[in-house]
Amino acid sequence: MKHYSSITEVAHPNELLDLAIACKADPYHQSDLGRHKTVGLLFFNPSLRTRLSTQKAAQNLGMQVLSMDVSSHGWKLEFESGVIMNSDKAEHIKEAAAVVSQYCDIIGVRCFPGLTNREKDYSEQVLSAFMKYASVPIINLESATSHPLQGLADWMTIKEHTEKERPKIVLSWAPHPKALPQSVANSFVKYMDVAGVDLTITHPPGYELAPEIAKGFKVNHDQATAMQEADFIYAKNWSSYTEYGQVLSQDPNWMITPEKLGDAFFMHCLPVRRNVVVSDAVLDSPQSLVIKQANNRTFAAQAAMISLLKA
Ligand code: CP
Repeated sequence: MKHYSSITEVAHPNELLDLAIACKADPYHQSDLGRHKTVGLLFFNPSLRTRLSTQKAAQNLGMQVLSMDVSSHGWKLEFESGVIMNSDKAEHIKEAAAVVSQYCDIIGVRCFPGLTNREKDYSEQVLSAFMKYASVPIINLESATSHPLQGLADWMTIKEHTEKERPKIVLSWAPHPKALPQSVANSFVKYMDVAGVDLTITHPPGYELAPEIAKGFKVNHDQATAMQEADFIYAKNWSSYTEYGQVLSQDPNWMITPEKLGDAFFMHCLPVRRNVVVSDAVLDSPQSLVIKQANNRTFAAQAAMISLLKA
């Protein structure tokens, strides 16, 4: 694995999952692997879980960590080629990526979408530029269109909570006051495809995911029927793909409640808005797996970094 930018770069996803599970069972079993090595974590956007869990994962491997809020503390970066740099962008990605590569053995990048230009966001301009101009492996810490560390942690959490070969999983759109990326939903669907689960996606009309993501999966616009007999309900808001970046609905009837959850487990990547996306009663119940999902982020990151260090 040269980079961990999406699941498509993982030749053997089941082996990556097994490695993450092994890291959880014994977090320090490869504590010398990262000795005298450094991971640099570059954040263009806020984070709690990704920043801390990736740092923790690196420490478990004996790595040093450099972390930087690029948007607030770095020079504004230019990503276009051949431009006359006489605007507010003081540094080109060509130099920035090459320089950081000299300080780090792996670079993690968090770069959300602008949600105004779908083509640009789905081209993954920022992440792709780091992969092009850095001379070390890149880990995606959530990009414009995917969040593969979250997807791996989610798969791990599901594995830990069912004996079923093919559990029924429902990915439900949920209301939110702000326009959010499709990245978590995209990666969840991709990982569930590899996991071979029985996946249904439910959302109001207009919230279809990218055709290449949703292709082949059941889509049901009726949340109640979609959720019948579900083993796991994964709630997540995403803004419209077709009317790109728009908030078309904030219908509170899509919030997850105990009545809708039934006997299923509840999942969400966090952060989550209580009583907008999901009710207090669900989040505070033993059926909620959200804290366990966040814990598994450490071991997902650890498995990804081990794979990159050993490649
Ligand atoms: N789930 C997740 O990526 O959380 P943060 O945005 O806090 O990193």
